[in-house]
Amino acid sequence: MPRQILVTSALPYANGAIHLGHLVEYIQTDIWVRFQKMQGHQCWYVCADDTHGTPIMLRAEKDGITPEALIERVHAEHSRDFAGFHVAFDNYYSTHSEETRFFANDIYGKLKAAGLIETRTIEQYYDPVKAMFLPDRFIKGECPKCGAKDQYGDNCETCGAAYTPNELKNPYSAVSGAQPELRQSEHYFFKLSDPRCQAFLRRYTREDGRLQPEAANKMQEWLGAEGENKLTDWDISRDAPYFGFEIPDAPGKYFYVWLDAPIGYFGSFKNLVARQAAEGVAIDLAAFIDADAAAKAGTELYHFIGKDILYFHALFWPAELAHAGYRTPTRIFAHGFLTVDGAKMSKSRGTFITAESFLKTGLNPEWLRYYYAAKLSATMEDIDLNLEDFGARVNADLVGKYVNIASRSAGFISKRFNGQLAPADAGLPAIKAIQEAAPRVAELYEAREFGKAMREVMALADGANQYVDSVKPWELAKQEGKEAELHAACSNALNLFRLLTVFLKPVLPAVAAKVETFLNIAPLAWADAAALLAGGHGIKAYEHLMTRVDAKLIEKLVEANKESLAPAPEQSSPQRHAEHQEKAAEKQVAEAAHCSIDDFMKVDLRIAKIVEASQVEGADKLIRLQLDIGEEKPRQVFAGIKSAYDPAALVGRLTVMVANLAPRKMKFGLSEGMVLAASDPDGKTGGLYILAPDAGAQPGMRVK
Ligand code: 2FM
Ligand code: ZN
Repeated sequence: MPRQILVTSALPYANGAIHLGHLVEYIQTDIWVRFQKMQGHQCWYVCADDTHGTPIMLRAEKDGITPEALIERVHAEHSRDFAGFHVAFDNYYSTHSEETRFFANDIYGKLKAAGLIETRTIEQYYDPVKAMFLPDRFIKGECPKCGAKDQYGDNCETCGAAYTPNELKNPYSAVSGAQPELRQSEHYFFKLSDPRCQAFLRRYTREDGRLQPEAANKMQEWLGAEGENKLTDWDISRDAPYFGFEIPDAPGKYFYVWLDAPIGYFGSFKNLVARQAAEGVAIDLAAFIDADAAAKAGTELYHFIGKDILYFHALFWPAELAHAGYRTPTRIFAHGFLTVDGAKMSKSRGTFITAESFLKTGLNPEWLRYYYAAKLSATMEDIDLNLEDFGARVNADLVGKYVNIASRSAGFISKRFNGQLAPADAGLPAIKAIQEAAPRVAELYEAREFGKAMREVMALADGANQYVDSVKPWELAKQEGKEAELHAACSNALNLFRLLTVFLKPVLPAVAAKVETFLNIAPLAWADAAALLAGGHGIKAYEHLMTRVDAKLIEKLVEANKESLAPAPEQSSPQRHAEHQEKAAEKQVAEAAHCSIDDFMKVDLRIAKIVEASQVEGADKLIRLQLDIGEEKPRQVFAGIKSAYDPAALVGRLTVMVANLAPRKMKFGLSEGMVLAASDPDGKTGGLYILAPDAGAQPGMRVK
C-alpha cells in the first residue's frame, strides 16, 4: 500500500532573499520527498512564504509599496530561486491567503471554546510618533549592564547581557527615534501552562520517533520535571497597525505572525487540494488534517525545520493542534545550521551567499545538492560548506566516479554498435552489488542519513569503475576481433551507470533526467534497480552530463557576495535561537531601513548667517561663502550653487550648514563645512534651493 505523506519545509520570511543557509533545509526536504515519490508513495510537498508581522509591514513602508505588493514580489523571487535549485514543491503558497485565514480562525475558535485562550493586559513600549507598539527589536538604548550605546531591547551585543526592553537606559524607537512610552494593552494568550497542554506535551514529545533524541532531551528541559510547570502562556496577539489577520472577535488585534505561520502549512495544502481537484486528482483534505480522519486513514505529516525553531514546532504547534481537533505531526525533523569555511556566514567575507548569486555566477545547483547530501545526517549537527572541499568533492565523486562510467562507454555503443546494447551480465559482481544495496540505500534515505547513502553509492561507483578499468573498453576498441567483448563491456558499464542513477536521482534530478533521455528510458523509479536494460535496447547519443567545478567560479561567487558596507547583520536564517526568531528578522529590517537617531545626531547642523558671498575665479559652479555660526571667526565654505544664486543676493541671509565635516583643501582654499540645498533628485529641472529657517533662528543654533 502506498503511504500518504504530507511534507513541509519551514516557511521563509517574505522580506529576504533565499541564501545557502536556507537551502540546506529545502534541499534536504526535496531529496527526501523525491525519494518517497520514487518509492511510489503519495507524497505532497508544500511550503509558502511567511508574510506577516511588523518587519514586513515596515519594510514595505520603507520601499514605498503596500505589504501585498512586497510579498508578491518576494514570492516570485523565492519561487525562482527554489526552482533554480530543483526544489520541487507541489505547492508554494503564501500565508496571506484565505485558506490560512480560515484555519487560523478555526483553530483559534476551537482553542477558545476549549477554554485555552485568555486575555491579559500587558505593559509594552509604544512609539508615540509612529503610533505603534514596538517589538523588542525595534527598541534601542544603552545596555543596563555595561552602558554600551545603541543596543537592542533584548540583549547587548557588546557585553552579551540579556534583559528586557524596560531595563534599557535612555530607550528610543528604532523606527522613529522617538522616546517610547510604556502603555498598557490587552493581549490574547494561548494557555500553554494549562495542565491539559502540559500533560499532552509530556506524552507527545516522548512518543517514539516523534523527535530526534537531542530534540526530545531539549523538550524535557523545557517541560521541566514531572509535576513542575515550566511552560508559560504564549502571547498570540499584536496590536494594530500590524500586517496580518485580524482576530475574529477582537477588532484592532491581530494574530502574531508565529501563530499563523505553521497554520500556513495547512493553508498551502488546502490550496493544493483545490488545484489538484481542478486537474481531476482527488485528495482527501480531512484525511491529512483532521485528527480522527487522519488516524483512520493513516496519513503522515512531517515538518523539516531548523533547530532554532523547535520550540514553535514541538511545543506550541502540536499543543494547539491537539486541542483544536487537528492531527499532530508524525515527526519533526530538525537540522543544524550551515557554516561556510567553518564560520558563520558573513557578508564582509562574502560567504553570505544568496541562491540567486550562486546561479548567476554559473555554478551548477546540483553540485550544491550533492555536497549538502554528502554532509547531511539525521542529527541536529551543523554542517560546513568548505569551499575548497566543495570543488574537490564534487569533482572526485560526481565527475570522476559517476559520470566517468558513462562517458567512457556510451560513445562506443553509439559509434560501433548503432546505439544498441548487448544483454547485460546479470551475474557481474559489480551489478549484483548495486542491486543488493538497493534496500540498504533506501533505508538510509528514509532515515535522512544522506551522507551515509552517498558514501555507499560512491563505494558502489568505485566497484563499477574497477570493472571498467579491468575490461578497458578503450583498448578493446583498438584490437581486432574484440567487438563482442567491447559491446558487452560497454553495455555492462551503461547498466551499472543506470543503476547508480536510480540511487542518485533524489539528489541529482536534472542529471537523472538527462540520463533518462540519453538511455532512452522512462523516468526511473526505485523499483527499477531490480531490472537491467534488455539486449537490443537502443540508446540515444550521449550528452555531456556535468562539468568540473572550476576554482575560479568559487572565487567569483565569493567576490559577488562581498559587502564592504558597514557591519551588516551577520545572521544566516534560519539560524536563530527560538526566542529570538522574530527579533532577528526585525533587527535586519530595522538596520536596513533606518538611520538611527544616533547616526543622525552625529551630523552637527547649525544655523548660519551668510556674511560674505563672492565669485570664485576659475570655478564654474562654486560660490565662496563666509558663514557666521556664532564662532569667533566666520567659516569659509565653497558651495556649488552658482547656477542658481547671485552672490550679492545671498549676503545677510540665514541658512543651514553642516558644521562638523572634516575641512577640505580645495584648489581655491579651505572649505570648512557644507551648505544644505534642495534639488530634484534626477536633476531634470536643474533648480537649486538653499534652506532657510523660520524667522527668529539665530546663527549658531543647532538644527535637530
Ligand atoms: O524562522 C523563519 O524563517 C520562519 N519564517 C519560519 C516559519 S516556519 C512555519 F512555522 F511556518
Ligand atoms: Zn552591555
